[in-house]
Amino acid sequence: MTPFNFNMLMFMAMLVAPMALATQHVVGDNDGWSNPRYPEFYAEWASLHTFNVGDTLFFNFTKEAHDVAEVPQEAYDQCHTEGAKVIIKSAGAVKLTSCGAHHYISTRKGDCETHQKVALYVQPSSV
Ligand SMILES: *[C@@H]1O[C@H](CO)[C@@H](O)[C@H](O)[C@H]1NC(C)=O
Repeated sequence: MTPFNFNMLMFMAMLVAPMALATQHVVGDNDGWSNPRYPEFYAEWASLHTFNVGDTLFFNFTKEAHDVAEVPQEAYDQCHTEGAKVIIKSAGAVKLTSCGAHHYISTRKGDCETHQKVALYVQPSSV
């Protein structure tokens, strides 16, 4: 292999590496995104994961039954769904594009009150 090709390979590896490190987190693991079995369920789930910018959250749920909105902490704490910006209405991935605290709730009636909500802290990109 010529030195030129080796450098090209290194360059391409550097481009690809950050993507390879991005993790997809299935929210709630096998339980998916639903009314949790106990109130601390999603807090426990979040505490077992490390979130970095560039990772994605996969919310797995039945369309119509739930949704996902990203809300400020106050709305999260008090389950204020009015005016909440719903980001997905059926199962799908949400990319974590910024550092800091992120709060997600389901705006469907009664969901947030049963603790179908998750707060997580996103760290800078791991690369
Ligand atoms: C989503 O939930 C369904 C039904 O429980 C399950 O079969 C599927 O494997 C889940 N998908 C992911 C990515 O966890």
